[in-house]
Amino acid sequence: MKTLKTTALSAVAFSFVAFAAQAGDPAAGESAFTSQCQNCHNVVNDDGDVLAGRANVRTGPNLYGVIGRQAGTVDGFRYGGSLVEAGEEGLVWDADNMVPYLLNPQDYLREVLDDRRARSQMSFRVRDEGTANDIIAFLADFSSEAEEEEHAAAD
Ligand code: HEC
Repeated sequence: MKTLKTTALSAVAFSFVAFAAQAGDPAAGESAFTSQCQNCHNVVNDDGDVLAGRANVRTGPNLYGVIGRQAGTVDGFRYGGSLVEAGEEGLVWDADNMVPYLLNPQDYLREVLDDRRARSQMSFRVRDEGTANDIIAFLADFSSEAEEEEHAAAD
């Protein structure tokens, strides 16, 4: 009985640790975004307010509301064909699938499309999973705001 209890407890402790390692820190994500992403991306809401990064950065698509958005669908951005195809096949960004994308965009597209010739136009890679989770937590803050606005508009 005693052994069982201990096992159950450590399972709880373990899953808590696993969860804690998963959920990123948005403040750390903000500084990682500033140093690693903002040369190519910004976060601009529908009113044109620049919420992160700088105005008029167009190398990569606007990341406002990216969590929960179908991949490759920012209006007017010229994506590579592989990312658009992945979106058409159902790739919607969430906090889980964005991690492997950020660690290696091209490998990730090859995997989801099951096509060894798939190509990413984003050549940048995040070095570790922890940083990826932090950046995703930072971006998710803007996404929930975007969703709330959508809900408000729908009401
Ligand atoms: C050197 C420029 C560059 C850097 C640095 C860069 N990106 Fe990108 N990113 C791009 C481009 C270009 C695309 C479009 C890729 C395509 O069409 O295949 C893209 C696409 C994306 C997408 C997919 C968006 C969508 O609408 O489907 C996400 C998410 C993303 N980048 C996140 C990031 C994050 C987070 C960082 C920082 C860790 C980052 N990028 C750094 C250029 C960059």
